[in-house]
Amino acid sequence: MSSYFNYKNNQLVAENIALSDIAGEFATPCYVYSRAALTDGFHQFSNALQGREHLICFAVKSNPNLAILNVFARLGAGFDIVSGGELQRVLAAGGDASKVVFSGVGKTEAEMRQALDAGILCFNVESAAELDRLNAVAGSMGKIAAISLRVNPDVDAKTHPYISTGLKQNKFGVAYTEAVALYRKAAGLPHLRITGMDCHIGSQLTETSPFIAAIEKILVLVDQLALEGIELEHLDLGGGLGICYNDETPPAIADYIAALLGALQGRTQKLILEPGRVLVGNAGVLLTRVEYIKPGEEKNFAIVDAAMNDLMRPALYDAYHGILPVVREDYAAETFDVVGPICETGDFIGRARELAIAPGSLLAVMSAGAYGMSMSSNYNTRPRAAEVMVDGSTVHLVRMRETVQQLFANEKIIA
Ligand code: LLP
Repeated sequence: MSSYFNYKNNQLVAENIALSDIAGEFATPCYVYSRAALTDGFHQFSNALQGREHLICFAVKSNPNLAILNVFARLGAGFDIVSGGELQRVLAAGGDASKVVFSGVGKTEAEMRQALDAGILCFNVESAAELDRLNAVAGSMGKIAAISLRVNPDVDAKTHPYISTGLKQNKFGVAYTEAVALYRKAAGLPHLRITGMDCHIGSQLTETSPFIAAIEKILVLVDQLALEGIELEHLDLGGGLGICYNDETPPAIADYIAALLGALQGRTQKLILEPGRVLVGNAGVLLTRVEYIKPGEEKNFAIVDAAMNDLMRPALYDAYHGILPVVREDYAAETFDVVGPICETGDFIGRARELAIAPGSLLAVMSAGAYGMSMSSNYNTRPRAAEVMVDGSTVHLVRMRETVQQLFANEKIIA
């Protein structure tokens, strides 16, 4: 458990605020973030990187709430975006366009124009066709686009297959064996300027060895390019550092950075990283209330007011999230499947959890700050949850709960 969510007198608190007070004020389901946890994570990166030219680009997709982006922007972060929408969010949150890297395999012409207009730091290009498109778009605007090629190093990140991205069979990046030829091609395109190389091999990695293997492979390419007179200004090693959801033992941020820097010894390029989960995952919880207890022949169900539309990770990846009572009470503990009200068997938050709860009890779904709200949907016409940020003894509503009216505001009945 992150040290920013703790029990005090049998009450789970976020920093100095009891989660039961937040549920009382803002209702459930509700995401709660700790500003101190966000700040602490960012400082762990910047401290470990002291003395090394670097830029920490928060992966917006992991949690794009404007308040979260703003906290990181004020700490000096850059941002890793994957859409024009994310760019607009970064700018609306006070982020600096000149610290933005743009990843993703499917950038549209409109998104390229938008990013060139804003003046982003670098396009992380993922294919030959994208090089041509970007060259044409930049040319039509009389601009030069800074580029990095996302190289697929073909290493096994040893993580869930849906979030493993650095293998040959994945759609991401340019093939390792074609990378040098593509750099030569890019060097010949008049509206591009080569500035870096990037790779991102997957998410929720709990060991450093795959990162090191990837670095070793891409450094071979960096050297080959240098021999051809193509000098890179930065290396972007992506995100991917895992967190503890249950019993995983990922390296601490400082140890991960130390390992990266070890593998980069003697290299002078600016280091860019794109962490998402490790900065926000354990900085947020999802608050939910038990609606019903439903004893079954084989299992007991705790039916709660949060569902797979609010937190999709258990349904999609069979992901584990800790589930804790917000108030420790004296009920007899029993084993429950904690499920939502959605009409799908996959709608579960956790299975076989030992909990001392009754109808009306509040639960905190832990480690929900990354890829929680950002992957939520309106399935079953469920308005998305409220989001709250705790800052010491202050609570801020950072996203209002949606209304059903908003959900169908863009729809229209035909004659
Ligand atoms: N950079 C790139 C190019 C990425 O594709 C990603 C994540 C990141 C950085 C940030 O990775 P992180 O540090 O958060 O591991 N929805 C999944 C995770 C998908 C990750 C996609 N790419 C989940 O809930 O586990």
